[in-house]
Amino acid sequence: MKKKCLKIGVIGAGGRGRLAYLAHKPEQGSELVAGADTNTKVLREFKEKFPEAFVSADYRELLDIKEIDAVFITTPDFLHEEHALAAIEAGKAVYLEKPMTITIDGCDRVLQKAKEKKVKLYVGHNMRHMAVILKMKQLIDSGIIGEVKAGWCRHFVAYGGDAYFKDWHAERSKTTGLLLQKAAHDIDVLHWLCRGYSKRVVAFGGLTLYDKIKDRHAPTERGDASFRMENWPPLTQKQLNPIIDVEDISMMLMELDNGVFCSYQQCHYTPDAWRNYTIIGTHGRIENFGDSPGNAVIKVWYQRTTYNHYGDIQYFIPPVSGSHGGADPSIVDEFLRFVRDDEPIRISPVEARNSVAAGYMATMSLRNNGKPMDIPDVPEEIVKYYDRFVEKK
Ligand SMILES: NC(=O)c1ccc[n+]([C@@H]2O[C@H](COP(=O)([O-])OP(=O)(O)OC[C@H]3O[C@@H](n4cnc5c(N)ncnc54)[C@H](O)[C@@H]3O)[C@@H](O)[C@H]2O)c1
Repeated sequence: MKKKCLKIGVIGAGGRGRLAYLAHKPEQGSELVAGADTNTKVLREFKEKFPEAFVSADYRELLDIKEIDAVFITTPDFLHEEHALAAIEAGKAVYLEKPMTITIDGCDRVLQKAKEKKVKLYVGHNMRHMAVILKMKQLIDSGIIGEVKAGWCRHFVAYGGDAYFKDWHAERSKTTGLLLQKAAHDIDVLHWLCRGYSKRVVAFGGLTLYDKIKDRHAPTERGDASFRMENWPPLTQKQLNPIIDVEDISMMLMELDNGVFCSYQQCHYTPDAWRNYTIIGTHGRIENFGDSPGNAVIKVWYQRTTYNHYGDIQYFIPPVSGSHGGADPSIVDEFLRFVRDDEPIRISPVEARNSVAAGYMATMSLRNNGKPMDIPDVPEEIVKYYDRFVEKK
């Protein structure tokens, strides 16, 4: 029997936790009723926004509330496993922000637990809801470039010095590395567009710039990770995290299980911020320029030429409202429909695990002189179990 109104809690109510606000639609059958966060300022703001809601600094108190049907877990990456396992144990449906966890074993424990407890698990890969990616997927699936053979992604992270080197993101112990934490999105998109999963990876990279900055905040202070245009050029950044041991440049190569070859490059101090995907097939290639609705264009080449700036066809991505180019409202709606109405989801938690696995092993390769690394498989019964929840095309 369908519930009248889904009761929802959020663990990690500040920062990305504001995504859960989008689930507060009492007239449409979902209500945000509780927030847990260790930051008292965040709890105060949450209470101002949702005066009726229960708030606590201890997420376990939120999980003890029987009436809560589902929780958003939007805490920092290194807490995902603990918070997801506890929420599953408490029988709550889970929206777990990407990356699923910071290790392969951690992801596998979460997959196993949700299967055992028969709890709905959804991992928040909002790039699968971005207009530019959806259009590329549709074009590739239509066969316009033939059979896919290669996928490349260049990722320019202009906000790297602001968002990733001033707080926990800068520490291996809290992320494994940015080739997992940041790249989990893009590895998943490459897997999705190319219809396979990395089975072998190699990577190179290093900490090439941010370690030169000696201006650091105290370990007891919370870094200000907000994006500011005036923080330029990157070496003028101030108040970085006291520990910085993740890489700011990384490059990985992937061999997928279907014979497709992919590459991914990430730099945390470019002046501009966007992702460029190029997918090459047996009949052509497709590439995006810009990735935000309103300024993104996709070009497709399928006729032989020397250089054709415009491509044979161009697709302009019109503006869309909502954060992350409309992807956030769309992903929250999908999660709510999954929990309330048993509707299918776009990404299996196993696919989310596979993006973590590729990023994790690439990081291990990068830190071992580019040694090739094989990705451990997910047991077949786990793959099959989660497949049943995924939309079939
Ligand atoms: N998909 C996306 O587009 C996207 C964008 C940004 C962040 N993220 C992901 O969202 C997650 C949160 O990132 P963020 O930048 O908001 O981090 P953050 O450091 O701002 O933390 C989010 C919130 O969690 C709270 N928190 C920390 N420890 C807690 C604990 N033990 N119990 C309860 N609350 C706790 C913090 O006080 C904060 O309010 C990360 O996993 C990140 O990778 C995803």
